[in-house]
Amino acid sequence: MAIELSRHEEFALIRLNRPQALNALSFSLLRDLGAALDEVAASDARALLITGTGDKAFCAGADIKELTERSLVAQKRGAELGQAVMARLDRLPIASVAIINGYAFGGGLELAMACTFRLATPRAKVGLPEIKLGLIPGYGGTQRLPRLVGEARALEMVMTGKTVDAQTALQWGLVNRILDGDPLEQALAFTREFSHHSLPVLGFARDAVRRALDTPLHEGLKIEADLSTLAYRTEDANEGMAAFMEKRAARFGDR
Ligand code: CAA
Repeated sequence: MAIELSRHEEFALIRLNRPQALNALSFSLLRDLGAALDEVAASDARALLITGTGDKAFCAGADIKELTERSLVAQKRGAELGQAVMARLDRLPIASVAIINGYAFGGGLELAMACTFRLATPRAKVGLPEIKLGLIPGYGGTQRLPRLVGEARALEMVMTGKTVDAQTALQWGLVNRILDGDPLEQALAFTREFSHHSLPVLGFARDAVRRALDTPLHEGLKIEADLSTLAYRTEDANEGMAAFMEKRAARFGDR
């Protein structure tokens, strides 16, 4: 299977498993990824981790061999399929963490950018090289990259197709951390930093922050007022505040 879905503690783990093609996103892999995301959404996993099989690549992007000699209609449908899968990932009810364990190019970086967090191994390299193929990114790259790194750096990456190393990606805010040591163990430790909090309240937090970037400030503040009031109505907010008063650790029930 080009997609492997497994469980690690209370987390789901998706591995892109086409190492012979550097885990490139064939259309069949994309469809399997969509189905795996649906399975994760319906499960009781508290977070999703995504990584690539092998020590060379997270994902080298769309499968270039499938892109040649397609009709414009087929090409547009392909972009829409890729975007829909990335959107499903972006809108999962739980947070997602990309473990960028090598190259993340084109659709591979677009996949990582649709995750809530990105962690990179020290030798990881990322980029949107589509321009070198006479193309531009089609799975969300032109839209998600400027939201993460700003317009100037996004234009530099999209228009030069340059490769960015892990240190630069960290400096630019494109990745949250560089992992030293076993990538999966380190990523699990990172995920545990937030996953014990109330799941519905984590969902409100993600929603509020995500909407900040495409909403005028006065609208965003209204969204924050609504979502923070909803959080206040949860049983977990009662438990969290009671635990503070009683000087003990909170025991959230995701209610
Ligand atoms: N699609 C299909 N096959 C790919 C691939 C891709 N994106 N990337 C690598 N492969 C295949 C290679 O063809 C090769 O297969 P063969 O052994 O059968 O020839 C195998 O994976 C190993 O790759 P290399 O021999 O090229 O490995 P390398 O270490 O020399 O180079 C690399 C690694 C720099 C990542 C190089 O493979 C490369 O540049 N890949 C293409 C990256 C790219 O341009 N990605 C963007 C794709 S377009 C896109 O993603 C559009 C979008 O927005 C959705």
